[in-house]
Amino acid sequence: MIKVYVSRFNSETDTEPHLECYEIEQTPHMKVLDALQAINDKYDADISFRSSCRAGQCGSCGILFKGNGALACQKEIKDGAIIEPLNFPVIKDLIVDKSSIEAKVKDLELSLQCDHKCDGLDTSITKEDSIETKKVRSCIECYSCLSTCPVVNIATEEFGGPYLMRYISKFESDPRESFDRLKEALDEGLYNCTSCGKCLAVCPKNINTFGDAIERMRAIAVANGSGPLPEHVAFKENIQKTGRSVKTDKTPFIEEVTNETGSKIAFFTGCMVDYKFPETGHKLVKILKENGIDIDVPEGQVCCGSPLLRTGQTDLVQELVDINKEVFKDYDTVITICSGCGATLKNNHPQFGSELNVMDISEFLVDKLDESKLKEVNMKVTYHDPCHLGRGQGIKDQPREIIEKIPGVEFEEMLYPCQCCGAGGGIKSGKPEIAMDLSKSKAEMIKDTGADAVVTICPFCKLNLQDGLDASGCEDIKTLHILELLDKAYE
Ligand code: SF4
Ligand code: SF4
Ligand code: FES
Repeated sequence: MIKVYVSRFNSETDTEPHLECYEIEQTPHMKVLDALQAINDKYDADISFRSSCRAGQCGSCGILFKGNGALACQKEIKDGAIIEPLNFPVIKDLIVDKSSIEAKVKDLELSLQCDHKCDGLDTSITKEDSIETKKVRSCIECYSCLSTCPVVNIATEEFGGPYLMRYISKFESDPRESFDRLKEALDEGLYNCTSCGKCLAVCPKNINTFGDAIERMRAIAVANGSGPLPEHVAFKENIQKTGRSVKTDKTPFIEEVTNETGSKIAFFTGCMVDYKFPETGHKLVKILKENGIDIDVPEGQVCCGSPLLRTGQTDLVQELVDINKEVFKDYDTVITICSGCGATLKNNHPQFGSELNVMDISEFLVDKLDESKLKEVNMKVTYHDPCHLGRGQGIKDQPREIIEKIPGVEFEEMLYPCQCCGAGGGIKSGKPEIAMDLSKSKAEMIKDTGADAVVTICPFCKLNLQDGLDASGCEDIKTLHILELLDKAYE
């Protein structure tokens, strides 16, 4: 028997939706749709829901499953599942009114607007154009991405969201299109996406909206002078001057450490650790030493290019990739302690011809920690999954395993640990109000755990989460990089 919670709403009897719990027998590979039918059969519950093809093709059965968009006919049911309607006005139970998004599509005239007349075979579309548009063409309009996007959910008026961005991009990349689709994308909030990757994670067709639509259109906006946001220009100017995307008034970390130990393991510091958080870099060196591991910190390394890729300023990226490729070419393993750097080195650099063996510190350290040396740390903590670590690198278990190895530490999961904190995609600098709203929403979840600290593995998340906690009156709750927590176990 499993318990399934279903959102119920009947406008004739209810003022708002509420969850009801049902117990059913789980059959092998049972899907949400099967579970809803089983509940209706067993309880005569008359739950209303939509479905048609039952094969992941029509998109009609979109629902929220534990807060994430999903197809009811494809998602496997689990004990404790919470099934809610998509984030639209509810008509009844899981049936929603999608007329607002349909009206928006109509307003934007999202069909090919073509002046061009062709008598014979139309040769204006090249094979390359087709490849580009194909990446965003297979949408089945399930609206999972739109209902799960954290920015849409907190700043509905300012961001058209992933569904519209993908749709607009489809026509923007079609050479026959005569409307200014890039302007539409900018008007719909092209620079309001945090690059959290949630839209890709929930898309049943694996459409990479933030990479293949949003970042692609941001690059076009920069090329034609309509992007980036003024606050983003400094990233490129700083990199051109120092190789770092941020400024510092401290001695850079790389200048403070022994650069060559003869180790085949190297540390890719990233801009934030080198220029803003050198103390975290020192903790890495110390913790590895405690575990008998030496690490080189090669001189000459530069920004990974993430701030440029995320904001569309792509022209310098090849140069940065080539410099780093040369600096790290003789190492077996390259360690990162910033999720954004790690995801960029792993996911973007191969397209620019560099494939280093990159490991996040948690995946490197999880099976190497000498637990006999760890002292007790009496603290209650929770963990925030950085988007570029959890979704970007598929690393969720290792940080938790490390935390659980530290004696004395009490761990409690927050409600949605993978929800974006708002630090990425150029939002923190360009749209600070959105970054703050997202961070405050996480601060509430952190507060609800009763934790003394929230642990993470990203300097950007660390900064933004602390801002949200402070602004929510939770200054006592501290944000710690996982190395700072581990360091306490070695004090
Ligand atoms: S990457 Fe995140 S913020 Fe951007 S559109 Fe997708 S879900 Fe929304
Ligand atoms: S892009 Fe993917 S998640 Fe979004 S509506 Fe289309 S199929 Fe659904
Ligand atoms: S019923 Fe068609 S996609 Fe689920």
